[in-house]
Parts: sequence; C-alpha cells; structure tokens
Amino acid sequence: MNKLAMLVVCCLFLQLASGASLAFSRREDTRSRWADLQRKLHQPRGDTPITQSGQIAVPTIARYGTTETVTLSQDETQRFVGELCSNSSMGKAVNVTVHLHNNAGWEPVQGVVDVYVVDSNCQGGVLCTNKDDDGYATAYCLIESWPSLSNIMIVVKAGPVSGIKFSLAAEFYEQGTQPAAHVKTHMPSHIPNLLAMAPLDQPAITLTQSVEVFPSVSLGSLERALLEFTWCSDNSMIMIQSTVMSSDGESTYAQYICETLPCDVGTNNIIEQTEYLPTNTVQTDPMNIDNAVGKKLYVVVTSWGGPYDSAGNAYVSNFLYSANQH
Ligand SMILES: *[C@@H]1O[C@H](CO)[C@@H](O)[C@H](O)[C@H]1NC(C)=O
Ligand SMILES: *[C@@H]1O[C@H](CO)[C@@H](O)[C@H](O)[C@H]1NC(C)=O
Repeated sequence: MNKLAMLVVCCLFLQLASGASLAFSRREDTRSRWADLQRKLHQPRGDTPITQSGQIAVPTIARYGTTETVTLSQDETQRFVGELCSNSSMGKAVNVTVHLHNNAGWEPVQGVVDVYVVDSNCQGGVLCTNKDDDGYATAYCLIESWPSLSNIMIVVKAGPVSGIKFSLAAEFYEQGTQPAAHVKTHMPSHIPNLLAMAPLDQPAITLTQSVEVFPSVSLGSLERALLEFTWCSDNSMIMIQSTVMSSDGESTYAQYICETLPCDVGTNNIIEQTEYLPTNTVQTDPMNIDNAVGKKLYVVVTSWGGPYDSAGNAYVSNFLYSANQH
C-alpha cells in the first residue's frame, strides 16, 4: 500500500468511526430523554387537590344562554328563565353577562338595557341589577351566592331607544374557584331598591344550558381529571356532546363518560373516545332527564403531551372543556 492509499483508508476508517459514535451518542441521547420524560411524567405535582382515587377534581361552570339574538323595541321588557334542577346551583356565584350587539361600550346615548335577576318564585327579592355604584348600566349582574332552589329569572328592559339587539348568559361558578373570587371582588357596594317592578305577563324565553371549564386546566400526562356536572332541561330526552380541547396546541386528550361513580378509564363508562386527539369530542345516546333532579354526568379526561414546564420539571398539558345538548 502506498502512502496515498494508506491515507484514504485511514480517513475512511476515521469517518466511519466518528459516524458510528455519532449514531451511538444520538441513541443514548434519545434513551436518556425518554427516561427523563418517564420520570417527569410520574412525578406528582403538589398544587392541585387529588381525589381519593388519584383523580384531580376539576370544577365546571354551568352556563345558561340565549341561542339567538334578541331584539327589543323602545321600553320593551323581556324575561328569561334558566332551569336549575335540584339544588346543584345553591351557593354558587353567578355572573349574568349581556352583550349589546350594537353598543359594546355601553354608551348610554346609544341605548342600553336595565337588567335584574330574581328567582322564579321571587322569594329573595331582586338578587342583582346591572347598575354600578354610580347608577350607570353595565354588562354584568353579579350574585355572590345563589340563594334559592328555584329557577333563575333574568328581566331585561330596553331604554327609550328602539332596535336594541343583545344576547345573554348566566354563568354559575363553584365557590373557591377563580371566577367566583372575581365575582366577589366586583360586586357593587349596594343593590338598588326595585320595589316598583312591573308585573310581567308575557312568556319567558328559556335559556339553553351548556357546561364549561374556564380558564384552562393543567394536567400532567398520565394524570386523570374528573369533571362532574348536573344537566337540567325541560326536554326529557337529550343527547350531550362532550368536547375536551387543547389550549396549548401541543397536547392531546382522551375522555370517558359515566353516569355513576366511580368513574375511571374502563370503569362505568357509558361512552368514551380513547384516541388521543387535540380536540376530542363524543356524543352520548339520547338520555332521559328527570326534570326535578336533572342528570348527573362524570367525565374522566386523560392527556398526552403538552409543553415542558421547567419550573415544575414536568410535561404539563392545558385543556378547556365544553358540553352542549342536542
Ligand atoms: C342537595 O340535596 C342532596 C340530596 O337531596 C343533599 O344530600 C345535599 O347535601 C344538598 N346539597 C346542598 C348544597 O344543599
Ligand atoms: C362575567 O363573565 C364575563 C363573560 O365570561 C367575563 O368577561 C367577566 O369578566 C365576568 N365578570 C366578573 C365580574 O366575573
């Protein structure tokens, strides 16, 4: 072998050796990252209450909203009713929000509405109005704690302006949650006395229930979230569409629905969608709703993926949830 050939062989050998070692170190790298991921996934996070069966209880928001835009003529009054079956709403904080479609800033000269809320038996008198402490109409009517077993009745009265268009929703928040605390800090200091309420004889518009989880909830991969809600409806047969969606764009979810506890992966599921998807939707069969007590449903959510949280040293997914009736 001459010197040139020797050099070529040498170079070839070096190249092969370095390539092999590169491949080897890449494999090592992947292996240690996998081990790292496994370790982090199984690390418990200490900031969320865990139910007895190792599930994280996630509070849900019951929402009663209009499904169409409502139009009022000058000085016209309309009432709305949300069906609150059983006592599932007692003690919750309530936020009734009105969206004025042509007057988002609630400029008095452009036409606003007066809103007040009573229970459907008018037991506790007026529970809130949308007037702030200076007497101006706002978008919100807030109740610190729903006091009644009766339905919620929302009364909306147009001012001396025609063609007011709006939609509205009443949201019920569990005490101890961030939205309930937000209601508490935004309560006006007094409720105006509305003894001169006109009696209302025209029919009420029934609001449609949905369920939401907001703001987004963090869940470690392989952790399970348990959502619980009561569905109230005056339709005796409904189908419920249940949707879990990623709010971080990097995580995926599976869900399992039950009518009874314990509810878990493979335990008591009436329906499930086991594929891990960024938006996971499933619809129940038609279900019988007892108007008096409603229908209790449980949803177990499992996640995979999500951004790496260096502070918590774990992969954490973030989801939102909604359930609607069909
Ligand atoms: C609601 O009613 C059930 C049974 O009727 C009772 O066990 C529960 O304590 C009540 N909850 C509230 C918040 O009143
Ligand atoms: C009431 O709900 C609306 C709509 O979700 C929200 O924008 C607003 O901040 C809430 N207000 C309070 C005081 O909680």
